[in-house]
Amino acid sequence: MNADQGKTTDTPRVLEIPAASLVLLIGVSGAGKSTFAARHFRPTQVVSSDHYRAVVSDDENDQSATDDAFTILHAVVDRRLQRGLLTVVDATNLHTHARVALRRIARRHNLPSVAIALVPPVDVIRQRARERSDRALSAKAIDRQLTDLQHALDRLGQEGFRAVYVLRDPATVDTVTVRLVPFPGYRSELRGPFDIIGDVHGCRLELEALLHQLGYQLVRDEHGRAVGAHHVERTAVFVGDLVDRGPDSPGVLRLVMGMVADGDALCVAGNHEDRLRRALQGRRVQVSHGLRETLQQLAAEPEAFQARVRAFCADLVSHYILDGGKLVVAHAGLPEKYHGRDSKRVRAFALYGETTGEVDEYGLPVRLPWARNYRGQATVVYGHVPAADVEWRNNTLCVDTGCVFGGRLTALRYPEREIVSVPAERVWFPPTRPLSTPRWTVADGRA
Ligand code: CTP
Ligand code: MG
Repeated sequence: MNADQGKTTDTPRVLEIPAASLVLLIGVSGAGKSTFAARHFRPTQVVSSDHYRAVVSDDENDQSATDDAFTILHAVVDRRLQRGLLTVVDATNLHTHARVALRRIARRHNLPSVAIALVPPVDVIRQRARERSDRALSAKAIDRQLTDLQHALDRLGQEGFRAVYVLRDPATVDTVTVRLVPFPGYRSELRGPFDIIGDVHGCRLELEALLHQLGYQLVRDEHGRAVGAHHVERTAVFVGDLVDRGPDSPGVLRLVMGMVADGDALCVAGNHEDRLRRALQGRRVQVSHGLRETLQQLAAEPEAFQARVRAFCADLVSHYILDGGKLVVAHAGLPEKYHGRDSKRVRAFALYGETTGEVDEYGLPVRLPWARNYRGQATVVYGHVPAADVEWRNNTLCVDTGCVFGGRLTALRYPEREIVSVPAERVWFPPTRPLSTPRWTVADGRA
């Protein structure tokens, strides 16, 4: 799934909403927002502008209290989203600036936003307005809101909501169900034990050797190709960058995709899978860093296999939270404030890491030393930056030991914290920088 790529659904039956997100109800007065909120969400999950108007002025209809009410409403939304709690804003949300201000809070906490527009027929709205005893609204005020609503509906699809649901038919409003979808990387129920495997980069022979050494039974197809690997009690976790530079990216994909499909492995997205996905979707991508070779290797495979690879790369999560939250796996590592969060910023960090924008004497990006400042509870295991050896840093470990550059392919056995590795068969791709120089040294300016 791609962060913050909105999809508009008109007349849906099931509203899928990220379990940790900001939900904006949108609709004119009398559209049924408060009724909808009360039906589908817990009272503490709903923050209502009317409620805070009453809190600050003793009168929920006092429009002069609107600014004060929203000051408090924003503060409540901010504190709830900081905790990663689902928060539903029951206000008309008809104006762009109102939605922008709320979405900005969600973005600050790296959580997605969802819009639910309630759009009953105009005659229903007018009739409800006439019948309501708790609120008096002039016909002119309703007309103004209906105009604002039309502007909002025209814009919602481009505003950066993860999903936009438009409910028009009153019968639909009464029958839809809400399904809260947990962050897909949140698999803390999986307790392992795990074997967390570093960047493979198309080194199929070394991967087969490492899996064998870890005690996995390789599964082969009728052509003798490895299509899976099973261990009676352990699960493999790949830190991403399965492909590029090495001799057999399709072979590595075939093996790992099989393991993932059989429940023998998990895999997070690496920056190389991200570029491969974009290339396979026909997007314009630089075919550097070994991507050209991967695309050539894949071109020799049947279309069905390429389709599997496309789907596999598109579905990879940015990071996994495992073992009751005690273990986090992300390709380029992840600071604690991003664990379990779901935004473009989090995905970019997890896949690409954070760089200063400068390059070192080898022309490689200088990286910010997030691991040096890491004080989080969870153990973070990652790859991305090859080094000659592994070294624990504040409860984080990089398991990329540059196999494709002639180093080793390494696994961390978790929770045992044992290192198992196999040497590269050869230098498959010449390194830009000698493997013995850890990049942290360059970024930190000290050893
Ligand atoms: N109503 C209804 N059938 C629905 C939803 C609402 O008859 N499916 C009625 C409610 O009983 C209420 C009126 O319509 O009398 C307004 O509904 P409400 O949920 O309060 O609308 P809101 O959008 O919250 O209106 P406001 O912006 O004024 O708070
Ligand atoms: Mg209401």
